[in-house]
Amino acid sequence: MQIDAKFDFNQFYSGKVNDLKPNTQKSWRSVKIFLISYNGFMENKLKINGGKKLFGSVTVEGAKNAILPILAGVVLCDGEITLENCVDISDVRCMREILSTMNICTHADGSTLYINTKEIKNEKITHELTQKVRASIFMLGALLARFRSANIAFPGGCKIGARPIDIHLKAFKALGVKIVEKHGYIYCNGQDLKAGTIVFEFPSVGATESLMMCACLTEGTTRLYGVAKEPEIVCLQDFLNKMGAKISGAGTDCIEIEGVKSLHGGTFEVISDRIVAGTYLLAVATCGGDVTIEKVVPKHNDALLSFLRQTACQIDILNDKIRLRADERLLSIDKIQTLPYPFFPTDLQPQMMTLQSVSEGVCTMAENIFENRFALVPELDKMGANIVVKTRTAVIYGVPKLYGADVSASDLRAGAALVIAGMKAEGYTTISNVHYIDRGYEKIEEKYLSLGADIKRI
Ligand code: EPZ
Repeated sequence: MQIDAKFDFNQFYSGKVNDLKPNTQKSWRSVKIFLISYNGFMENKLKINGGKKLFGSVTVEGAKNAILPILAGVVLCDGEITLENCVDISDVRCMREILSTMNICTHADGSTLYINTKEIKNEKITHELTQKVRASIFMLGALLARFRSANIAFPGGCKIGARPIDIHLKAFKALGVKIVEKHGYIYCNGQDLKAGTIVFEFPSVGATESLMMCACLTEGTTRLYGVAKEPEIVCLQDFLNKMGAKISGAGTDCIEIEGVKSLHGGTFEVISDRIVAGTYLLAVATCGGDVTIEKVVPKHNDALLSFLRQTACQIDILNDKIRLRADERLLSIDKIQTLPYPFFPTDLQPQMMTLQSVSEGVCTMAENIFENRFALVPELDKMGANIVVKTRTAVIYGVPKLYGADVSASDLRAGAALVIAGMKAEGYTTISNVHYIDRGYEKIEEKYLSLGADIKRI
């Protein structure tokens, strides 16, 4: 039975239940719970009939991991901000929800997001909101900069590791912020916030971005060393500078922030999503075919492209387009390890694992960034893969074929990797927990459908 996803249960039975006798009320409520869970369950799956090659072209959307810190950065800006090349994914919707609790209005029109911060209020950010999205942590640095105080629950995110925030908090304290962690909340007093020099113990992407924002409105010059160099950090620097900040060095070993009095509004175009681009490249490498991905920055995927060139697929780069052709079964890559940018990104590790699982040979893959990012392995095993995990290393023995199965997404990128496996496999694959995939990919089934895959949301 397919329930129309727009069916409004509350409308359907509101008012009626209270008119019924107590026993009947109880059974009505259990019907409601079943219907909602059935409907939610029904919407949250993808069904794929695999074995089809991919052909055509696809345009890559704005970068999730650039938009999310920028949506915290708007707290620093007083006025109207227009973000172009934005993307409608659940993580962005969660950040917009957080902004709305602070009286910041947002309105999406296609890929353009309009933001108005004129009525901003510094409100506590509750557990219910921060649990939905890891990027909520970026609000700390932004609120400290703008209001010199912040009160936010510990953030959530995908279960790929403990995801501590100690590097963020240590750096805030080094700039004079007083922090109390109590009952799952972080209370920050930034009255004594001052410029300073920070040397990170690890090039944390989030901590780098948090401190860039925190130092923006702090008098004096703050220098950050041991920083992450991801393109999304350069994008954040470009956004903040467009709004009046004085930041330099993003993408190098040292970022210098000269504090200014305030930031204003303006218009900014977000970079394209290199991880989504890499996902599509790995999809056509795995399934075979001939696909051109458009509106990308090829340089951002240099590490992936250099690995793919070892596998005998054909790659052509032309301005903001990358074309990949794969006719036969590809060769395994002997060794792959994930490292901070510009090396091979952890966010493409699961998708690469799917390719290696059907390549010819053996691949040893080391995951150096997150301690629990091999949750894909048991799901690929169900499909006939042959992978042995030893702590943070996976040895992938390529098999000629995968077989359709019922599998479950455990996190965003493992889910994206299962979609590729399902499109490659012989027979039908059903993927549950698709809400994880929707966190970072806009209408993923429509994109693959346009390339010839047999895939639908059920
Ligand atoms: C960002 O997460 C990205 N998320 C992640 O993308 C990405 O995988 C990660 O950077 C690494 O590139 C966003 O930008 C929203 P980190 P972040 O701080 O900032 C440890 C995706 O799929 N660490 O660079 O959380 C941490 O546990 C997501 O799009 C601390 O120990 O990553 C991890 O092992 C997944 N203490 C390592 O550092 C801290 O205070 C890298 O984390 C912070 C991090």
